[in-house]
Amino acid sequence: MDAKPIIAPSILAADFARLADEVGAIEGAADWVHVDVMDNHFVPNLTIGLPVVQSLRKSVSIPFDVHLMITDPERWAPGYAEAGAYNVTFHAEACENPVALAKTLRAAGSKAGLAIDRDTPVEPYLELLPYLDTLLIMTIKAGFGGQKFLPEMLDKVRDVRRRISAKNLEVRLEVDGGIAADTIEEAAAAGADAFVAGTAVYGASDPAEAVRRLRALAEQARPSHD
Ligand code: DX5
Ligand code: ZN
Repeated sequence: MDAKPIIAPSILAADFARLADEVGAIEGAADWVHVDVMDNHFVPNLTIGLPVVQSLRKSVSIPFDVHLMITDPERWAPGYAEAGAYNVTFHAEACENPVALAKTLRAAGSKAGLAIDRDTPVEPYLELLPYLDTLLIMTIKAGFGGQKFLPEMLDKVRDVRRRISAKNLEVRLEVDGGIAADTIEEAAAAGADAFVAGTAVYGASDPAEAVRRLRALAEQARPSHD
């Protein structure tokens, strides 16, 4: 494994009235900012959509990691790529043809990610890894921040890491949900190399310092060093 860990604070735990400032607080320390889009259909929660992402994009320069927890991603996902998102991740449970949507996203200028929710096995999706830039394993049930990390999800992370290594693929393996100082090391040791953290970053008195601490823990726990 040679990719350096990515730390992606989730603005779901930030103050939505001060979004640009909140993203500014982690710029320079974090690699990506994670933007959770929820539609109250795919998950029973509602957050922000394209207009907010478009406005925020103009105010900050850190790469956007957009996590679409929405139905009908074929209809909406390309708009986020066109708005300048670095990576756009849609859910396997919401998409009939993930390879086609991944191609559309890449053509629209972003990386393409596929997310696997808590109750979905990853095995059927391993064959799709060559068509993806990011595979996101939920370490909670998607829908809300502040939930407890589910260590049993790391079996999926290990399965994906094994396949990425065996096929020598360039795919980011991201974990999302309950990632904090007391869970990031086991996720990194299982083979994750991108870490979403909402509460652990924006619940801290110094979000940038929280990012640096998470990064140090992830670095230490990596299965192998270059
Ligand atoms: C939940 C979101 C997560 C959320 C994580 O469905 O996808 O990105 O912000 O929040 P924490 O880090 O608090 O579990
Ligand atoms: Zn997320």
